Amino acid sequence: MEPGLVSETQGLLCGRFGRAIRHLEEIDSTNLEALRWAADEASPAPDGAVVVADLQSEGRGRWGRTWVAGPASSLMFSLVLRPSLPPDRLELLTTLMGVATAEAVAEVTGLKTGLKWPNDVVVNGRKLAGILVESQSRGGRIETVVAGVGINLDLSGVDLPEEVAARATSIAELGVAVPGRPQLLAAILSWAEPLYDNLWTDAGPPEVVALAGARSVVLGAEVTLRLSDGRTSTGVARRLLADGSLVVAFPDGERPVRSGEIVNLREA
Ligand code: BTN
Repeated sequence: MEPGLVSETQGLLCGRFGRAIRHLEEIDSTNLEALRWAADEASPAPDGAVVVADLQSEGRGRWGRTWVAGPASSLMFSLVLRPSLPPDRLELLTTLMGVATAEAVAEVTGLKTGLKWPNDVVVNGRKLAGILVESQSRGGRIETVVAGVGINLDLSGVDLPEEVAARATSIAELGVAVPGRPQLLAAILSWAEPLYDNLWTDAGPPEVVALAGARSVVLGAEVTLRLSDGRTSTGVARRLLADGSLVVAFPDGERPVRSGEIVNLREA
């Protein structure tokens, strides 16, 4: 465990992301802690604040699942964002965090990372990192977004549920040197900050979406999607739209899918 996780990370950064970092040995979930910090009226978490933990007792995954990770087996953190944007732009932040994580892991480790829409980071078809974006709204506007990232560093010794173990991989398992958490965290924040700032300019969504498309392992493949209402549907993934939606050619026609999960993927 790095003695100076916070100072080492901050020493590698020069922007506003990561200027405020809370490092906890153990917490229920970094996402929950980040939401609590953001709601703290006396000293609210600023835009770009980070909560990082060695261990989570209630790590949260997408679709109500839990995220299981042992001490030091993973980099687990949440980034607080305080955008003023309508709720229908939330999916773009999910895309953004996936891109930042995939690019940073590739840069620091040399691994060929892919993005499985919407934001799983995969290597050789197995999941290396997961992202859970949660938000709090007031008056129809998103007030706080918390982007939680879990990256598998070394899963040896972690007792994973069988179905998770079958689909997961770690940096150690992929045979490259496991980077320190400060290096990895700083690289992700350094990727995320300019992408985030560009969301509000003309150079905005297309930049993130183009990067997501370039890393996508989904485009051109036949995918079975579980949609938010629980139904599954199969079609060929065609392209990403500027809001992060995935356009899929279903047997009855092409349509964009804004949120869902790919439960099966076959090269077309
Ligand atoms: C998924 O793939 O289902 C998303 C997993 C996200 C896990 C991370 S670990 C840090 C942050 N805190 C949480 O409780 N979850 C996210």
